Amino acid sequence: MRVLVAVASKHGATLEIGAAVMNRLRERGLEANLRSPEEVRDLTGYDAVVIGSAVYAGRWLEPARVLVGRHGGALAKRPVWLFSSGPLGDPPLPADAPHDATAMAKVTGAVDHRVFAGRLDRELLGIAERAVVRALRAPEGDFRDFAAISAWSDDIADVLQAQPAVTST
Ligand SMILES: Cc1cc2nc3c(=O)[nH]c(=O)nc-3n(C[C@H](O)[C@H](O)[C@H](O)COP(=O)(O)O)c2cc1C
Repeated sequence: MRVLVAVASKHGATLEIGAAVMNRLRERGLEANLRSPEEVRDLTGYDAVVIGSAVYAGRWLEPARVLVGRHGGALAKRPVWLFSSGPLGDPPLPADAPHDATAMAKVTGAVDHRVFAGRLDRELLGIAERAVVRALRAPEGDFRDFAAISAWSDDIADVLQAQPAVTST
């Protein structure tokens, strides 16, 4: 069973979440590959797909949105899981899901969409981004919960291992 983990990330935090998902799926005996959305030409050969994106200004990053738009038909034929990485602080805010997520879940028929807390490292930001986070008083730090990410990956593995590989076209 081959799983594509496609992740859109601007400053690396979401990419590391994608890597954690891939690694956990591999530990569970699944064949999993991590790709950026731009690298994905088609979904041939993949039995399931995990798509993740960092959230900026309430939205998924464009490459993740484009991936879903381009491959909606093929995604709808496969089991799909979505995750967003964005909220910061403890408790993580904003608490509401990014507004793209509902549409993305509908197009793909996603099994689940999960919001994971993210990381804010001012050193990695450009001038405009620093101004935004200053204005929003966004808390700096790494709020990613890798235990929760691993548990979610286990949920994915449980579902996939309970069903036969259905499609690879
Ligand atoms: C300029 C800026 C705007 C952001 N806007 C949001 C937002 O609207 N909602 C949200 O949940 N997180 C927001 N975040 C937090 C990021 O999504 C979070 O830091 C994420 O982990 C970054 O992932 P990346 O390193 O993969 O790009 C914002 C961060 C920055 C720097």
